[in-house]
Amino acid sequence: MEYVTLNNGVKIPILGYGVYQVSKEECERCVIDAISVGYRLIDTAQAYFNEEEVGNAILKCGIPREEIFLTTKVWISNYGYEETKKSVLQSMEKLQTNYLDLVLLHQPFNDYYGAYRALEDLYEEKKIRSIGVSNFYPDRLSDICLFNKVTPQVNQVETNPFNQQIYAQKNMIKNNVQIQSWAPFGEGRGDMFKNEVLKKIGDKYNKSIAQVILRWLVQRDIVALAKSTHIERMKENFEIFDFKLSNEDLIEISKLDTKNSLFFNHQTPEAVEFMAQLVEQRKDKI
Ligand SMILES: NC(=O)c1ccc[n+]([C@@H]2O[C@H](COP(=O)([O-])OP(=O)(O)OC[C@H]3O[C@@H](n4cnc5c(N)ncnc54)[C@H](OP(=O)(O)O)[C@@H]3O)[C@@H](O)[C@H]2O)c1
Repeated sequence: MEYVTLNNGVKIPILGYGVYQVSKEECERCVIDAISVGYRLIDTAQAYFNEEEVGNAILKCGIPREEIFLTTKVWISNYGYEETKKSVLQSMEKLQTNYLDLVLLHQPFNDYYGAYRALEDLYEEKKIRSIGVSNFYPDRLSDICLFNKVTPQVNQVETNPFNQQIYAQKNMIKNNVQIQSWAPFGEGRGDMFKNEVLKKIGDKYNKSIAQVILRWLVQRDIVALAKSTHIERMKENFEIFDFKLSNEDLIEISKLDTKNSLFFNHQTPEAVEFMAQLVEQRKDKI
């Protein structure tokens, strides 16, 4: 496994395993499988409703806790200083751990300033080894970097061949924030797993489209999170450290960028309304 060093010296694996949309029933088995394959970064969130199962898996997997980099995210309804502090401590209970490697603010809506200051305090108290944000577009990221004590260590944003985040990554580098990719495969949208350009490149190295995508992210120094409930695919997605894409390959992939989200643009009023609906739907579950 290769590691990236965050702006505070903490090392994070460059490839991780995410559990979004992994059901409670399957989650413990999936995380144990992923750790057995070699993944050492596990990415969950309060809003994934599987923190307890992730915690069970980490206890049972036989790998010391310190060798696993564990991330969770604070959900919007837990924003505000006091609520965020309380909810992170609850997440730690569910995850059965007395520290977290990374805690992110899941979305840039509601009182994320109060929430961020709670993360800063938990960081100062050494309950959290690193802190950050997710889905913060360049303007919001610069804002949170320039008006707070602790510069976020990570910003997790949708990054894949169809939404390459070139400008956002430049802005993160400028602010000393590590970019992390969610939906590296765009969850298969835009027929990503059938893309001819990616397939042709993969054929040269005897690698799959998924492997080409993850390799491309790693070569751009992007921490990637891949999700699969199938152990064969977890293995496939992990086997990306034995080949290198050429400059010509990188040029071909750069032409696939649409500069648009495969999901939705977080900067529209409709996105805010959608998030408010999600908050309402999830209010009894969080
Ligand atoms: N911060 C955020 O707002 C945010 C949003 C979304 C995701 N995330 C994080 O990022 C992680 C990854 O994103 P994601 O789960 O949305 O999407 P993704 O990793 O782009 O795609 C997952 C989909 O690809 C399939 N897949 C995985 N490996 C494959 C392979 N080798 N060949 C063919 N199909 C394959 C999976 O199917 P099977 O499971 O059936 O194999 C699943 O349907 C999440 O789990 C989560 O931790 C964060």
